[in-house]
Amino acid sequence: MKDKVKLEIVDYGYSGEGVGRVNNKVCFIPYVLKGEVVEGEVVKTTSAFSKLRLLKILSPSSKRIDPPCPYFANCGGCAFQNIEYKEELSIKQQIIQKQLSKTGYKGELKVYKSPNFYGYRNKIKLFCKDGILSLFQEGSKNLIAIKDCLLVEENISKVISKVQTFITAKNIDNNIENVYIRSQGNSLLVWFRFYKPIKLDFSGLQIMLGANCGVFSSVGKEKPKHESGLKILKANEFGLDCEFEVDAFHQVNNNVGEQLYKDAISYILGEKIINAYSGAGVLSGAIASRGKTVYGIELGEAEHISAEKLKEQNNLNKLYNIKGDCAKLLAGLISNDLKTIIIDPPRIGIDKNVCEAINQSKVKRVIYISCESSTLVRDVLRLDNYKIKTVKIYDMFPRTSSIEVLCILDRI
Ligand SMILES: C[S@@+](CC[C@H](N)C(=O)[O-])C[C@H]1O[C@@H](n2cnc3c(N)ncnc32)[C@H](O)[C@@H]1O
Repeated sequence: MKDKVKLEIVDYGYSGEGVGRVNNKVCFIPYVLKGEVVEGEVVKTTSAFSKLRLLKILSPSSKRIDPPCPYFANCGGCAFQNIEYKEELSIKQQIIQKQLSKTGYKGELKVYKSPNFYGYRNKIKLFCKDGILSLFQEGSKNLIAIKDCLLVEENISKVISKVQTFITAKNIDNNIENVYIRSQGNSLLVWFRFYKPIKLDFSGLQIMLGANCGVFSSVGKEKPKHESGLKILKANEFGLDCEFEVDAFHQVNNNVGEQLYKDAISYILGEKIINAYSGAGVLSGAIASRGKTVYGIELGEAEHISAEKLKEQNNLNKLYNIKGDCAKLLAGLISNDLKTIIIDPPRIGIDKNVCEAINQSKVKRVIYISCESSTLVRDVLRLDNYKIKTVKIYDMFPRTSSIEVLCILDRI
């Protein structure tokens, strides 16, 4: 295939990129819309497909809008700033419909949209290139310098320039692996991950950030060490007092996360539930506060600590937080009176052992929360004693290609 090619976009791929054909070969090209004729440059080619970089839009779609972010199509974070939000939701619905058709599911697919499609993210991980905070370019290891990100909550946005000022003043740019900023209400934590040990005075940064903020640091894969200010993020979720460690998982979009949990809870059968991949325990806590017995299984240390604090502070004596690997622990926790298992794994999906344990159980319902449709489809096919009852999309990550799905499976 020639390096420069012209093609018509006829569909969307699973990451929201455009799909077209050149000499009958499937080509994927990001930041284009269905119906457009575009010029692209081949950046990767295999026997099955080619990946292209967009050079020129020769015939734009009437649905195309101007992206509000100056870094769009350079920074790889967003996929859909060039289209109205309702069109983005429709594309995401088509993607999930196509994915789930592999499991035989042909039912309806409702979408819960995010009330805010910008300014919704409660966390961001930034990298550093030549002393400037950056994000990765689409499909590459190149870093793109940024001053702001339109996806993050306003209080995070305000802090990015302060962190930049600190990095510039301290001349520490060569030693920063990443900077993680996360917020909860008016509180905020900043965590610097360094490549090599470094002695730094963070007091100037703490003064810029103010009393509602805290600073952490670590080297490589070490646990974050508290440096100054706030130590923990406090929140009230589902009427529960919660405390989150800086490195404990939390759903990225507070509103959508809450609706997802509410809907997941509405599908629970029985009085005893296993919540596998349970994170910081908010969903487990919300279920236990309704009088049910919950076994939460979570591998992460920080998440387990947060879940234990949640249990203690809210007197949830029917909540059992178990620290460990679901692949090893789940089978041993399944009993004959268990009717519901919730699974909310990371993008890699669930282990084969987990599928096997569920297949061999008498559990009536599996509530699968997924942030990666390809592994959801693989796992649904492996759970061959179960059939999809209903599916709903939650737009946890507007403007990006990520899609959160709640899939309810019932025993056949
Ligand atoms: C997508 S998060 C969901 C967390 C939680 N359900 C929530 O909504 O906040 C996935 C969680 O699974 C945990 N995890 C990853 N691999 C695991 C494993 N093999 N066993 C148990 N937990 C695991 C991660 O630490 C993370 O907290």
